[in-house]
Amino acid sequence: MTKENNKPPSGQFRGGRFAGGPAAIMEQINASIDIDKRLWREDIEGSLAHSAMLVEQGIISALDGKAIEGGLKQIAKEIESGNFQFSTSLEDIHMNIEARLGELIGEPAGRLHTARSRNDQVATDFRLWCRKQSRALQSEIRNLQRALAQQALTHADSPMPGFTHLQTAQPITFGHHLLAYVEMLERDKGRLKDAAKRMNESPLGAAALAGTSFPIDRNMTARKLKFTRPMANSIDAVSARDFAVEMTAAMALCGVHLSRLAEELIFWSSSPFGFVRLSEAFTTGSSIMPQKRNPDAAELCRAKSGQMIGSLNNLLVMLKGLPLAYAKDMQEDKQAVFTANDGLALCLAAMTGMIETLSVNKRAMKQAAGADNATATELADYLVRVENIPFREAHHITGRLVALAEQQNCTLVELKIADMKQIDKRLSKQVRQVLSVDAAIKARNSYGGTAPERVKEQAQSWLAALTTGTKK
Ligand code: ARG
Repeated sequence: MTKENNKPPSGQFRGGRFAGGPAAIMEQINASIDIDKRLWREDIEGSLAHSAMLVEQGIISALDGKAIEGGLKQIAKEIESGNFQFSTSLEDIHMNIEARLGELIGEPAGRLHTARSRNDQVATDFRLWCRKQSRALQSEIRNLQRALAQQALTHADSPMPGFTHLQTAQPITFGHHLLAYVEMLERDKGRLKDAAKRMNESPLGAAALAGTSFPIDRNMTARKLKFTRPMANSIDAVSARDFAVEMTAAMALCGVHLSRLAEELIFWSSSPFGFVRLSEAFTTGSSIMPQKRNPDAAELCRAKSGQMIGSLNNLLVMLKGLPLAYAKDMQEDKQAVFTANDGLALCLAAMTGMIETLSVNKRAMKQAAGADNATATELADYLVRVENIPFREAHHITGRLVALAEQQNCTLVELKIADMKQIDKRLSKQVRQVLSVDAAIKARNSYGGTAPERVKEQAQSWLAALTTGTKK
């Protein structure tokens, strides 16, 4: 490094130890700047806190502190406006910023790294970034929940078939089905929040791994960066990546939930079902079949969950054989978390758009809701309620009726009363009313059930909670 050129050549931290520069391929495998430049805000924030603390503790002079602060703020402006030259030879975001600081303010720049290492620096930056992103994702999830709850309110009394094993099971309401996702998403939000809470401890000041001999104040930097406290073990502080794993696990699970919804949108919108129609804005046409409207956005949500699961796997495998403390393997953690984050943010936004603009074919759904003797359970329940028949026996009688209907190639409602009575004389005309789809859904009014009145209550209470931001 020459005096005239403050920007160090590649391998600046090889210091006096190395005679030569790194091989070109070494530079390439070692550099992370293309990925970790996204941490620039957090890196500057962390450095500002560290430098203020160094001044406060008398470790560096107030004059040097001022110069460092001015330089870092200048760098923030440069990066923000796209006027910063990132360099691969400077390896990562930390060294890129430090080198530029040297160019801007000269000698005091070299004092910033006192009592710190890139090991605690990167752990700090990444925790700050994940904490911020956890909040951003929570708000994206809230938008999707609002869209779902709004549609649920509109369709609180729209019947559709409920499935188990993807076989028609019992009639439900479309609103009820959508609210199931609102519940799942609430737990996803909770997991992201929980991960952010647990990661909110400051590694800064752990230095390379053992702490430092300088009289630093870790409480002060923790406070400045809005961490709840400094991490108590310096080795843990630089080695731990469970915060990234937890965050990615929460993202992957949310991605899986979106994928399930996406899968449903795909088959609901296929022509044999025809339950819903996705808006033009979220579908594509076919280059050969003019009639097609393809659910590409939903399919991509389904596929992208694979990347999120992959990221989680990537992190777990990367960590499992790592001895304490820092190893360069950990540099790869950012790529995994960024991939999961970007995929999830995109899917949440796309899913929100799809749900908001979804139109529902109530007729087709209602027709399917009554198909395949979906109300057979109603009949069994009726026999229990009105005729005081034990449920197992009522189930058996209903089963025989279903078999008879199948034999006669008709539905339960279409069976002749006389034929019904052959099976059990307690059966009467009244059962026909019980077998209607509307009666079936209305009857399921237990707490958490599908009855329109219950669904309406739930949708309204979700909408109120999501608007005020209070917990339901
Ligand atoms: N870019 C590095 C990372 O993300 C920063 C820490 C480097 N530490 C070291 N001892 N080489 O992991």
